[in-house]
Amino acid sequence: MYTFLRILTALVIVAVVALLAFIFWPVQTTGPQTELPADYQVPEGAAEYAMQLSDCAACHTAEGGERFAGGRAIESPMGVIYSSNITPDPETGIGGVTLDQFRAALYDGIGKQGEHLYPAMPYANYRKLTEADVRALYAYFMDEVPPVQNEVRAPEMDFPFDQRWGIRAWKWVALSKAGFTPEFDNEQLDRGAYLVEGPGHCGACHSPRNTFFAQDGYTAANDRFLTGGEIGGWYAPDLRDPGSAPQKWTAEQLAHWLRTGRNNHAGVSGEMQLVVGESLQFLTDEDVAAMVAYLRHIGTDGPAPETPPTRPETPGETEALLASADPDMDLGARLYLDNCNACHFVDGLGADEVFPELDGNSLVNAPGGTGLIHVILDGTELPSTEIRPMRLRSMRPV
Ligand code: HEC
Ligand code: HEC
Ligand code: HEC
Repeated sequence: MYTFLRILTALVIVAVVALLAFIFWPVQTTGPQTELPADYQVPEGAAEYAMQLSDCAACHTAEGGERFAGGRAIESPMGVIYSSNITPDPETGIGGVTLDQFRAALYDGIGKQGEHLYPAMPYANYRKLTEADVRALYAYFMDEVPPVQNEVRAPEMDFPFDQRWGIRAWKWVALSKAGFTPEFDNEQLDRGAYLVEGPGHCGACHSPRNTFFAQDGYTAANDRFLTGGEIGGWYAPDLRDPGSAPQKWTAEQLAHWLRTGRNNHAGVSGEMQLVVGESLQFLTDEDVAAMVAYLRHIGTDGPAPETPPTRPETPGETEALLASADPDMDLGARLYLDNCNACHFVDGLGADEVFPELDGNSLVNAPGGTGLIHVILDGTELPSTEIRPMRLRSMRPV
């Protein structure tokens, strides 16, 4: 009995020590993935471009708030997280943060106080950033962004998710190896892979989540990568299925959509609008072409065909029904004729770059239809971009 108690006490002590070590033992942070020369200078223009590629503005700017001063509320099933102030303000922002600390935020999700950051900050993807891009981002936030004093609200998470040390355990099961490994032996495809998997963090929204609520796959080698996810009540569609936009549109149509948020098929809505507005519209021709080539290459049925199949000439059943304007039509069809037909037409094809095509539209066909409901109830507005500097708003039906 006595021995048993001794063993039990010893086990309890070991468990408590292990837990304390787990909570308080300093985390080993990831170093630079490539060595740069000691006198390395960030090339002219590279600082801002790295920020645009990685879309930092979308999350770190609150609606109506100062740029990068944080405070944007990010909803999660476990509570609300507010993005940090990443202007170089020494008190409320990241002024005084060293390059190593900054890299630790991007690679390991460690904040300036050494705290574990919630994965709403997409470090799971930024772990792939090259050292040149990390340096460029650091230069941008330290030298090109004006400091703004803005104290950001603390996260409002339910127990046990309010315990930041729990994130450490999550990182063990969720994070992949740091650094980017070229997969294709083709310069353009590898550049596209880097942009999509790393800075573009497309998988953060467009990939499903596994049981640990981690992104299921970080590269195209995983066949669940980019096969659709959910974000803030919007479905971010599959980008690899044969019927998906990158696989059924031409390369030119996809490139145009990524840059302007519109083409002759679809408009951009919901969570994707900031991606186009704050990031993709600024990409160089070569980078958009690389992203497009990669997305078209990784289809689940193999690379997308050069020319997509054309539509049949004869009107489909739905189009024929709507054109007949039969008074006995279902309520849904009648409501469409009364409220939507004026712009989207009986064939659902709309008008190029103005009224999106609804036939085959991924938002209309998304599981659950929540995106479609958002658009019907609240309308949607295409962002103004450099190439298409105009706004178009869908009417909120009365
Ligand atoms: C999808 C949203 C999102 C994007 C995109 C994003 N962040 Fe964050 N970031 C957050 C959130 C949310 C936090 C706060 C997390 C927390 O409190 O645990 C954060 C925290 C940080 C921190 C820690 C600040 C501190 O006080 O220690 C840094 C640094 C940072 N982000 C830099 C960046 C940079 C640089 C980029 C672009 C390369 C970027 N973030 C892109 C959401 C985002
Ligand atoms: C913050 C979440 C988020 C991120 C990050 C994101 N997307 Fe999206 N994306 C969405 C949502 C939501 C939609 C559906 C709304 C729509 O179609 O406009 C969408 C739609 C799309 C579509 C249109 C599909 C169609 O059938 O009309 C493409 C193409 C696309 N995204 C590509 C990308 C690429 C490439 C990246 C990375 C550079 C990316 N997305 C990053 C949320 C995101
Ligand atoms: C006055 C013209 C007009 C009417 C009427 C109208 N829409 Fe639209 N709709 C637009 C425009 C313009 C857009 C592009 C704006 C955007 O996507 O941000 C759009 C976008 C959409 C989208 C998003 C498509 C995409 O690819 O992102 C859907 C879905 C949609 N409308 C459905 C409907 C439905 C359903 C109705 C009827 C209840 C309707 N619209 C009525 C003009 C209209």
